[in-house]
Amino acid sequence: MHDYSGLIIQFEEIIGKENVFFDAESKDKYAHDETENLHFIPDIIIKPRTAEEISKVMKICNLNNIPVTPRGAGTGLSGGALPQFGGLVISFERMNAILEIDERNLQVTTEPGVITEVLQNAVKEKGLFYPPDPSSKGSCFIGGNIAENSGGPKAVKYGVVKDYVLNLEMVLPTGEIIWTGANVLKNATGYNLTQLVVGSEGTLGLVTKIVLKLLPFPKFDLLMLVPFNNLEKAGEAVSAIFRGGFTPSALELVEIDALKIVSKFVDSSVVPVTDEMAAHLIIELDGNHLETLMNEMEAIANLLTDFDCGEVFFADDAQQKAELWKLRRRVSEAVKIDGYTIEEDTVVPRAELPALIRGVKVLGQKHDFNVVCYGHAGDGNLHVRIKKSGSIYSLNNPDVIPILRDLFALVKSLGGTISGEHGIGLIQKEYMDIVFPEVTLELMKNIKKAFDPNNILNAGKIFK
Ligand code: LAC
Ligand code: ZN
Repeated sequence: MHDYSGLIIQFEEIIGKENVFFDAESKDKYAHDETENLHFIPDIIIKPRTAEEISKVMKICNLNNIPVTPRGAGTGLSGGALPQFGGLVISFERMNAILEIDERNLQVTTEPGVITEVLQNAVKEKGLFYPPDPSSKGSCFIGGNIAENSGGPKAVKYGVVKDYVLNLEMVLPTGEIIWTGANVLKNATGYNLTQLVVGSEGTLGLVTKIVLKLLPFPKFDLLMLVPFNNLEKAGEAVSAIFRGGFTPSALELVEIDALKIVSKFVDSSVVPVTDEMAAHLIIELDGNHLETLMNEMEAIANLLTDFDCGEVFFADDAQQKAELWKLRRRVSEAVKIDGYTIEEDTVVPRAELPALIRGVKVLGQKHDFNVVCYGHAGDGNLHVRIKKSGSIYSLNNPDVIPILRDLFALVKSLGGTISGEHGIGLIQKEYMDIVFPEVTLELMKNIKKAFDPNNILNAGKIFK
């Protein structure tokens, strides 16, 4: 056990006594995120305001081999913000300024502690659009989204976070402050450090400023909900939509049990939920020409009749649309409370979705677990939620490991991988060998070493 009293005094000098915490209540608050039921207690929490403060702190930590865990809003689903080895948590909650919206170049420069939806609304006021919209957008931080390369429903048309990040200011684990690239749309200047850092789960550096590309905000959107009698058929319909020449701005799938649970949870009457239906697709189109969108929506609805769908529900107004999206966004939270405690983030090439769904159900019978599937079907990104009676989730639970090894072997055999948008963090590192051979993992570990020679920053994440 390290004696932290000397360090606390140094940190207080750098960032102010009022921004350094080591009381039991604070420690408990920063010991968990939204990942299953994990709990790791930090020794100290600091809330810096500037990159320079973080730089000074990192130099001290690097010298003294102090574990450091960066943390956004704590909405992560792979344990990335949890201090597995104690030590210092650096919370970005005070670094929450949107620094500049550049309307000439369609860019925004922001600090990492801005809530994603706050950023989206700020640029929307100028007619601009930042599309990535994870379910937690109302509470997650943009910095956490960079760390995890988050996605969300709009990824199917607009891409994920990486597609918007132009340049990052970051503090290296050794304390230097660097910019990773330039504020340009094309860049062929050396290794692409910007994209290396996006999705690196806070293991390579602490991002302190973010430059994002923006788009003009589309003028119209239409939303419909389509029930299907058969889950696999719903999966087949997904790729038929793209092959038919359409690119929806969202194409989500929710299995009936998940929809039933969430409808009760948010007390929604907007969606007609019946027992006969196996699954629903939520389909959104957006663009600047309403008539074209209406024609396309009708054409999609017609195409879906070949896949044994039921009566289509069109969300008529902004309120119905908002209610339907609220329902979708809260599925994860609702099914977790219902006992589906193990959440996976599988992703396969889109046309393999029916095979994945079929395989998941077979595994449910083999290993005796209940399962609900939902997620970003248009991206082949299916969240598989598992409830196994008598089995509480914990890392290395011998009940759970064989189930997940089978699931991920299936995903790999279909050409997919084990995380589409939640990251590896603590909970998936056990399974990295299923998707990468040793030589690839060694390359990744050597990159980590180049940034963080003493392995102080978010150690224990991604790699075993
Ligand atoms: C969702 C989160 C869990 O899709 O990724 O709701
Ligand atoms: Zn998701």
